[in-house]
This record gives sequence, C-alpha cells and structure tokens, in this order.
Amino acid sequence: MDTFVIQGGTRLRGEITIGGSKNAALPIMAACLLTRQECIIRDVPDLADVRHLSSLLEKLGCCVRRDNSKALRIKVEDESCSLADYESVRRMRASICVLGPLLARRKHAEVSMPGGCAIGDRPINLHLRGLEALGARLNLQSGNIIANADKLQGTDVFMGGPFGSTVLGTANVMAAATLSDGRTIIEAAACEPEVVDLGNFLNRMGAKITGHGTPRITIEGVEELKGADYTIIPDRIEAGTFMVAAAITNGELTLHNFQADHLLAVIDRLNLIGVDIERLDNAVRVSSARRLNPADVTTQPYPGFPTDLQAQLMALLSLADGNSIITEKIFPDRFLHIAELSRMGAHLRKEGPTVVVEGVRELIGAPVMASDLRASAALVLAGMVARGQTVVHRVYHIDRGYDKIEQKLNSVGARIERASE
Ligand code: EPZ
Repeated sequence: MDTFVIQGGTRLRGEITIGGSKNAALPIMAACLLTRQECIIRDVPDLADVRHLSSLLEKLGCCVRRDNSKALRIKVEDESCSLADYESVRRMRASICVLGPLLARRKHAEVSMPGGCAIGDRPINLHLRGLEALGARLNLQSGNIIANADKLQGTDVFMGGPFGSTVLGTANVMAAATLSDGRTIIEAAACEPEVVDLGNFLNRMGAKITGHGTPRITIEGVEELKGADYTIIPDRIEAGTFMVAAAITNGELTLHNFQADHLLAVIDRLNLIGVDIERLDNAVRVSSARRLNPADVTTQPYPGFPTDLQAQLMALLSLADGNSIITEKIFPDRFLHIAELSRMGAHLRKEGPTVVVEGVRELIGAPVMASDLRASAALVLAGMVARGQTVVHRVYHIDRGYDKIEQKLNSVGARIERASE
C-alpha cells in the first residue's frame, strides 16, 4: 500500500491542467453497453475507478482499449454475460451504472446490490423504483438484483428522495429509457453537469433527450443507438480541489481546462473566504492573501455546494480567522476526515450533520489515515500547509479519483513523495 510523505509549508505557484471528469466518464463508459458499434470517449482520466469499470465492461463482453491520446475505445463484442458480480460492485459502487444499460439492451441484468461505504448509507431504492416504473421485473437473489424486461415502456418517473435527487439513479433511468417504447419524463432529476454530459453523449449516440440539466428530463425512446465520438467535461471536483490547494498554501495557481460555470457555488464561497479568483478564457487564476475569513457552507445537489468538496473546504476553513459552520445535506455521515484533521491540530466539533470549525493559527504535521477519496484529498491539502511532515496512509483512496495528484502538485512546488508502506 502506498503512502504520501508530505513536507509542509510550501507555497504553490504555477499552472495545472484539469483532467477529464471521473464522475462523467463512469456512466458514459457504462452507456457504451447500449450499442454494438464502437464508441470513442476522449479525455478519460487514467484512474483506478476507470480501470475497475473497464475490467467490468470486459467481463460484460466489451473490448476496451486506451490509445495514447487518453481516448478509450469501447466496443461490445459479446452480449451473453449480464452479470456485475459482488467483487466488481464491492470494489466500486459506481459499477451500479451498468444496470440500466444492460437491462435496456440485453433485457436482463444481474448486478450485486451495493453495501454501505465509508461516506455512509448509500441506498439504490430510487434507481430500482425508476427502472420498475419503466416495466422492469426485479428480484433480489443471494445479494444480486435480478432485473428482467422484454421491452421497457416510457412513463413518468419521480426520482426525488429524502436527500434530493440522485446522480447515478438519474443516469441509470435516463440510459435505460433511451431504448424504451414511447416517452419517459424523469421528474426531480439530478441536474449535475455529469448528468448533462451523459445526456449529451447519449444524444450523440442517437438518443432523443431534452431537458437534461433541469429537474425534468424528457426521453423519447428510439429503436437503437449507434457508436459516438465524445470528449468528456473537465473534472470540476479536481478543479475545486486545486483551487483550495492554491488558497490553503497562500499560493497562486492558474488552472487550465477549467469550466467556471460548473463551480459557481464554490467560487462564491471562496470569494467570501477572501480567495482571489480571476476568470480567464477556459481557465482561472486563484490566489490568496494569508488571512482567510470564516464562512458557512451547506452541501446541496447541483448547483449548490458539492459534497465532494466538503472535506477540502473543511481543511481550508480550519485555518480561517474565526468560526465557520459546515452542514452536510447529501451524506450526513461523510465526516471521517474530522478525526484525522483533528490529529493535525484542527478544532472541529460535530453536532449531527453540522460541524463547527474553529479556525486555528496553524496545522501540525502528523501520520493520518485516508478513509475515502475526498477525505484523502483534504488530508493532502492540510499536509501541504502543516508545520513539519505529514504521512498520509492508504492513498489508494486518492488514486481512485485523482490522476497523479502528487505529480501535478509537485510540478507547482509541493513536496510530496509516494512511498510503499
Ligand atoms: C454520485 O454518487 C457521485 N459518484 C458521488 O461522488 C457524489 O458524492 C454524489 O453523486 C453526490 O453528488 C459518481 O458519480 C460515481 P446520489 P451517487 O445517488 O449517484 C440518496 C466521489 O467522491 N439516495 O446522487 O451514488 C443518497 O443516500 C463520489 O467522487 C437515495 O436515498 O449519489 C444521498 O443522500 C462519492 N436513494 C443522495 O441521495 C437512492 O436510490 C444523493 O446520492 C440513491 C441515492
């Protein structure tokens, strides 16, 4: 298992190019199951999660090749296997996004039911309700969801849940409905840019989808879909993480391939905290003066502040000049980073889904444990500003979602060494 050994106190300065979005790439890759023609997906980051899904797609009869221009070529060659087994789903929950495409195209899918994970309970009841509304017959056998449908029927589907809309649930139902009979309306759909990207990709394949990016998506079913050549959007969470990296190290970073429209809530909070953000053409320049203002932040579905940047912002606000309040409204238990940041001297007090962050003058390097992808990113950010050395254990969590993060950060002045434990 790898660790990061981080020497703190460096100031980042320079330019970084943001890679393609992991969370857009995964459902788009799964959607390639909807056609037998080859799909080319460009700007797919080379991450553990992408490799996991590639090997699942291979088990499902696809040929998956990465060429040297970061493009993935995916072509279905054999449609006889429709099983996403326990091992695949256990390793990566997002494997669930093959369910809708398999059901729509192969009329049958067996997908292991995902269990809980480090960021809390993550039910899939809304995915299943949506697919049932389209006419799927669902059973649970030995921990696997067995789904069958002779032909899916377009219908109205309400996808709202207790914590708002569901991103991958919307993706599953939208993908399945492309090959249904008639019109489907998804109400309370997720509006995240990654859902929009999937809708755009499906339309490139010949689907008839409108309204993606709004809470009401309309899908007119078509007989079949064809191959497509598509470039995925930049990763807004990687971009947000590097914005915080510039701010927390009192540095100055220019981020290229930056889509500001996808990060307005984050830009708003960072401005309030006192971070300078200059929007350029397809890029942004982020810098910060030493003094950070406290701020209140509530995570919400898009266009609200993303839960995937909550941990990173907590690391930043730990050093603000006063008390901040962070409320998590998507995954109320997504706070495993609190104990680790506290080991570095942060003053954090949790009350239910809310954390009071009392700003301190400095963080102090310590050995810490990564628990999930974004929590690990927060520890790396804290390590770069802490006094002395921080060792982040279990960095495989970070490798799931950030493409060579230590190389990117070292190229702008960080001192992070990857070591084997
Ligand atoms: C996606 O997960 C992302 N994953 C997550 O990113 C992200 O944190 C999350 O959306 C929220 O933005 C991928 O895109 C691969 P949800 P997803 O269904 O789709 C509840 C990262 O770090 N819910 O939108 O699984 C759920 O419990 C990852 O990159 C139900 O109640 O999340 C949560 O409270 C982690 N029933 C809320 O909805 C359901 O059937 C939103 O979850 C489904 C979800």
